[in-house]
Amino acid sequence: MKFIEHGTGGGPECMALADGPAPSPAPGQILIEVVCAGVNRPDCLQRSGKYPPPPDASPVLGLEVAGRVAAVGEGVTQWKVGAGVTALTPGGGYAEYCVAPAAHALPIPDGMDYATAAALPETWFTVWANLVDLGHLKKDERLLVHGGSSGIGLVAIQLAKHLGVECLVTVGNDEKAAFCRAAGAAHAINYRTQEFAEEVKRITGGSGVDVVLDMVGAPYLQRNLASLRRDGRLVYVAFLEGSKGEADLMPVMIKRLTITGSTMRPRTLAEKAAIRDALVANIWPALSRGELLPHLYARFPLAQTAEAHRLMESSKHIGKIVLEVGKA
Ligand SMILES: NC(=O)c1ccc[n+]([C@@H]2O[C@H](COP(=O)([O-])OP(=O)(O)OC[C@H]3O[C@@H](n4cnc5c(N)ncnc54)[C@H](OP(=O)(O)O)[C@@H]3O)[C@@H](O)[C@H]2O)c1
Repeated sequence: MKFIEHGTGGGPECMALADGPAPSPAPGQILIEVVCAGVNRPDCLQRSGKYPPPPDASPVLGLEVAGRVAAVGEGVTQWKVGAGVTALTPGGGYAEYCVAPAAHALPIPDGMDYATAAALPETWFTVWANLVDLGHLKKDERLLVHGGSSGIGLVAIQLAKHLGVECLVTVGNDEKAAFCRAAGAAHAINYRTQEFAEEVKRITGGSGVDVVLDMVGAPYLQRNLASLRRDGRLVYVAFLEGSKGEADLMPVMIKRLTITGSTMRPRTLAEKAAIRDALVANIWPALSRGELLPHLYARFPLAQTAEAHRLMESSKHIGKIVLEVGKA
């Protein structure tokens, strides 16, 4: 099969198309003939050597795919060869064939094409696990999402809309702000021209938000604590600007705040399967009804994966970037 290899790592130019044997499904796994693969920021980190894959995962990049089941491993009964699936993968998505646990695959929502479906798993698994399971986000609350125009951010806006939560976002320019508002954010704050914590205070009449989803890190900690109301929850999915700094933690005690966060990849098979089941029950029907909008920004042929990574690292994109791997 053709796949993208990244050698010992480096900039986007270290990636090249290569030929190698297709993997075979172990018990409990399915082999997917990949039509499209999603690109995620963690792929850029892994490519540059800053995010090594777990020891039992494929060294090939790629955390999500959509395609057809090509073979099933021992004990797999829920998927038949030929079925259309989208799946969270432990790695190996930038390839013509990829294995994934059968319990981490989901049906392609009604009427959805492969490219759009390939862009679903990583962001939806991450946002659900962090906002619902860890952040306990619920109806009539207020949510602040940093990086509102990222793949993760736009899914957080969709989830908020679905749950009946008012969503505020921060973004780096006015075009991204307009996009996030059109996607369902009640307020979009351009952090380059406005001070976000002051804006949150003004918008919420001084009361603050219930949950903050952050990917920026230490430089935002004090302002995130200030933006939360009593019993608020601060949830981390990344530290794009660093994880070390100083803060006055007094608001944590005074306002009974919770600080938490998680990464998806090291979770156990069973934990990811439980998230998958929650998504199938709570989100997939709404995707099939067209109520939740996926946001595909750009598509690149597999051979142009370096261009896809350059675009992601430029942060000019709004929403998801997808690789076209095989025939639909
Ligand atoms: N915890 C997990 O399990 C998990 C899973 C998937 C992804 N993630 C993380 O979640 C974040 C979003 O992922 P994604 O795939 O949705 O990424 P993405 O689409 O590339 O979005 C990242 C956005 O963050 C904003 N940003 C703010 N500060 C930044 C900085 N210092 N460097 C680069 N961008 C910065 C940029 O928008 P502005 O122009 O608005 O600044 C950028 O577009 C990434 O950090 C990723 O590693 C975590």
